[in-house]
Amino acid sequence: MRAIVYTEYGPPEVLHPADVPTPVPQADEVLIRIHATTVSVADRRCRSFTVPLSFWIPARLSLGVLRPKRPILGAEIAGEIEATGKDVTKLKKGDKVFAATLFRFGGYAEYDCLPESGVITTMPANMTYEEAAAVPIGARAALHFLRKANIKAGQKVLVYGASSSVGTFAVQLAKHVYGAEVTGVCSGANVALVRSLGADTVIDYTKERFAARGERYDVVLVAVDKASFHDCIEVLQPKGVYLNVTTPVRTPAQRWAALTSDKKIFTGEHAPETADDLVLLKGLIEEGKLRAVIDRSYPLDQIVEAHRYVDQGHKKGNVVVTVAPP
Ligand SMILES: NC(=O)c1ccc[n+]([C@@H]2O[C@H](COP(=O)([O-])OP(=O)(O)OC[C@H]3O[C@@H](n4cnc5c(N)ncnc54)[C@H](OP(=O)(O)O)[C@@H]3O)[C@@H](O)[C@H]2O)c1
Repeated sequence: MRAIVYTEYGPPEVLHPADVPTPVPQADEVLIRIHATTVSVADRRCRSFTVPLSFWIPARLSLGVLRPKRPILGAEIAGEIEATGKDVTKLKKGDKVFAATLFRFGGYAEYDCLPESGVITTMPANMTYEEAAAVPIGARAALHFLRKANIKAGQKVLVYGASSSVGTFAVQLAKHVYGAEVTGVCSGANVALVRSLGADTVIDYTKERFAARGERYDVVLVAVDKASFHDCIEVLQPKGVYLNVTTPVRTPAQRWAALTSDKKIFTGEHAPETADDLVLLKGLIEEGKLRAVIDRSYPLDQIVEAHRYVDQGHKKGNVVVTVAPP
């Protein structure tokens, strides 16, 4: 099958086309003919091996010491089931599915195999393959973190980095599912987008420091790693909840704040590796409460351009990659 592989860490140009064997599903796996995948932050980080210094050794052991162990990136997919292993019971040939491949990756190809027990379920009826591929990572992360805050209707939630993939889903979930009063922080170019997702107030970080407004919030969710922790803590109510999807472990300042105040701090977590939340999100999408924001779409053979764009750090929501039929 046709795939895009990388055999060394580096800039987007390390990605190149290759003919590789089509995978064969194990007994508990399904074979998916991929229609769409994405360029997620995980793909970009693994390709360039951009990880925090403290994670360098474990990340290298996991991804490959001298060269990448799993040469095909692509952590989100949408496609159609082409074959199933003998123990697969819920999914069947012909099902349209969307999935997070997690650290198996494999989306930059015509086919991939995933276990039926993984983060995979049938696609929302009202989404295209491109839209569905943009859901599994960002939406699950936003839901996982927001759930920690036990948000009550009418509470005030600030989403920092509201135009990112996680941020666009967090704004919609906080508003349309939890009934919160939502403030989004983004650049001027994304104010209309964030408002259209349901934010009651939008603050342009290029013109104004959100902490300077003197507002207090019940929850602050940091979706882009550019907010000062001091500012976030300052704007939280005394028993407020700080959620940071971007940091792999608690920083010393975050540990200190958790010890010395009634504020709750959640960092360094990942959504569970089951389909439960994806099924829940599918329902919300079908009810019209959630949509995927797609910035740009590239064909698979323009994957280098797609990665170059995402490397700039300004994607609005998600960048999708379409995979033409074999
Ligand atoms: N824990 C988890 O399970 C999990 C899962 C998924 C992602 N993540 C993490 O979540 C983070 C976000 O990833 P993502 O894919 O959603 O988005 P992303 O691609 O990292 O974010 C891009 C967005 O950030 C905005 N941005 C850039 N500079 C900013 C600033 N100074 N202030 C506010 N916004 C700014 C950009 O808009 P402008 O340039 O217009 O401002 C753009 O819309 C990453 O760190 C990723 O590793 C964690």
